Amino acid sequence: MRNRIVDVIKMNPTKDIEASGWIRSFRANKFISINDGSCISSLQIVIEQDNFDKTLIDELNTGASIWVKGSLIESLGGGQKTEISANEIRIIGKADPEELQKTILQPKKHSLEKLREQGHLRMRTNLFGAVFRIRHHMSFAIHKYFNDKGFFYINTPIITGTDAEGAGETFRVTTLPLGDKNIDLKNDFFGKPTHLTVSGQLEAELAALALGKAYTFGPTFRAENSNTTRHLAEFWMVEPEIAFADINDDIDLGEDFLKYLINYALETCKEDLKFLNERAIKEEEQLPKEKRNEHSLLERMKMVSNNEFERITYTKAIEILERSKPNKKKKFKYPVEWGIDLQSEHEKFLVEKHFKKPVVIVDYPASIKAFYMRQNDDGKTVAAMDILFPGIGEIIGGSQREERHEVLQEKCKEFNIPQEAIWWYLETRKFGTVPHAGFGLGFERLMMFVTGMTNIRDVIPFPRTPNNAEF
Ligand code: 4AD
Ligand code: MG
Repeated sequence: MRNRIVDVIKMNPTKDIEASGWIRSFRANKFISINDGSCISSLQIVIEQDNFDKTLIDELNTGASIWVKGSLIESLGGGQKTEISANEIRIIGKADPEELQKTILQPKKHSLEKLREQGHLRMRTNLFGAVFRIRHHMSFAIHKYFNDKGFFYINTPIITGTDAEGAGETFRVTTLPLGDKNIDLKNDFFGKPTHLTVSGQLEAELAALALGKAYTFGPTFRAENSNTTRHLAEFWMVEPEIAFADINDDIDLGEDFLKYLINYALETCKEDLKFLNERAIKEEEQLPKEKRNEHSLLERMKMVSNNEFERITYTKAIEILERSKPNKKKKFKYPVEWGIDLQSEHEKFLVEKHFKKPVVIVDYPASIKAFYMRQNDDGKTVAAMDILFPGIGEIIGGSQREERHEVLQEKCKEFNIPQEAIWWYLETRKFGTVPHAGFGLGFERLMMFVTGMTNIRDVIPFPRTPNNAEF
């Protein structure tokens, strides 16, 4: 039986063992290092050159895949506890060393841009192996958290006719011929205009108003043409929704959930995090002092999980920003005044300079938020909340939902949302409506925080961004 390397390295010396993996290096015609992706560690295979065919030895190239049989013995070298002394080796898939030179499998330092261009191979590197193993564990932890807390997982539609966020940044779904602008959308596949979902929230609300606590976790699509390090055109969003709950319950859930996920990573992904932590420290040594992080990745994770998040109103946040040094010195690109949508420079100041910890901002002006958010008694603000993280900015966006039928109808008018389009949403407010709330966590933003990767394209296996849909 083939053993996974993650298991082999924990085993005591034993006679008959088999393993397979991809060759990372072959040194001194004696030491082969193989990795099978099951963990960051590679396994050392030791061979006596004379016991093997010259043709086989010649094919032991970096990138090739092999199968090995031998005995697991205590290692004489310092790098590892055990190694396999090989009796038998088979090449499974060859790798031409000359062609390999053109790829990122060539063992030397490659830029993250170059690694992105070779997305079909980058998962074979230590760096991306670590990132995507952690991504798996985080997905699993999300389902575990909600399952343990009595939430039900709901699959919401990917093709939809509604635009929950009302931002209009959607990808159309059609079977009509390209470029034909005169065609009546009534003749399209669904008999009406449809697009890829920008959020599963509206349907998650329907579920919460029946099952009490529900969540969605699925792909989300936004055609915003923002080529930033924090935006993707296709990303994954986790959206819990809770009935009989208000905005404070929502914030409590968001804070508890994020801390749980960070602690889960600290406990479950120790080896990969240690690697990422050390890598980030080395990378930052190349940067000028002021660009370096004050704290390491592991320190930042522990700080977030051990400290209460700061909770302030939007109005208070504006006051702090107005009185801030950068504002007085006119250092902000976007001027600060009540009513503005906070820009990332403002969020950065609040989180990284002023409070030095995660900040939850509540009660935003109604005019800058979506139609479904619950109107506060002041008539100006809505019960919205954003959770802002150091180095990331907005990681969670959520709100208490407008559960009052008439108020919601008014909001639809104000936002020019035809009531026929969301008649089903409005109807839940007619039959046993209850206060309810929820939020959306950008899964890749979370992944950036727990891996220390600074470009969102490096925490999703195959990123989709403007002008980029390779693989
Ligand atoms: O703040 P947003 O737009 O909220 C909603 O969509 C609500 N319907 C969620 C809800 O209440 N159920 O998006 C939620 C989160 C953001 O805080 C951010 O982390 C992430 O989704 N996000 C993106 N991540 C990557 N690329 C993008 N283009 C993103 N847009 C939003
Ligand atoms: Mg938002």
